Amino acid sequence: MSYEWKTGKRPYSDEEAKTLLKNVISPETSDWHYNKHHKGYVAALNTIEKGLETADRSKANGNYSELGELKRRFTWNHSGALLHDVYWNVLGGDGDPRKGPQVLAAIEKEFGSFEKWKEDFKATAFSAKLSGWGLLVYDSLYSQRPLNVLVDEHQYGAIWGGIPLIALDVFEHAYYHKDGPGRAVYIDNFINSLHWGRINEKFIKYVK
Ligand SMILES: [Fe+2]
Repeated sequence: MSYEWKTGKRPYSDEEAKTLLKNVISPETSDWHYNKHHKGYVAALNTIEKGLETADRSKANGNYSELGELKRRFTWNHSGALLHDVYWNVLGGDGDPRKGPQVLAAIEKEFGSFEKWKEDFKATAFSAKLSGWGLLVYDSLYSQRPLNVLVDEHQYGAIWGGIPLIALDVFEHAYYHKDGPGRAVYIDNFINSLHWGRINEKFIKYVK
């Protein structure tokens, strides 16, 4: 298996991103975060895949082995690559949830109102460690409802069968260049720039 990296995989060009995302991240961060960090997860994933082809299974043990470390880093990079895809995909909108009527209805049913969902989502993302994520997932395997989930690093806190509908990167690399320690400002700007039409498309595709 080889994971493909493409420049311009986002639903807007690198040039468009500088204007489209300027309320959320700096133009430099748009470039660094996508073309260095995100790309790096995909590249590492391919390196790990290659390593797994030849790693000696007979040396595996519970302390240290090449196979064990490759498996651990696989999960980190796989989660990192996937969540960054979601992050870029949900950005670039006007933050109006009425443009995602089906997903909005599911959120209102579970949380009581959009405002209550937002309050919980902001607090969830604010509570992640310095390297982490706030996610809105649909719990497809266990409780069949939307949930806000806190993830440390890329994978600690994930729930099985949780389909990520919104992924908010709160690693410091995501916001420090524009907002410094103002993570709350960044979170507000992120929510105000959500593209609910694309979020709704995903909800319909994977949930309904
Ligand atoms: Fe990131």
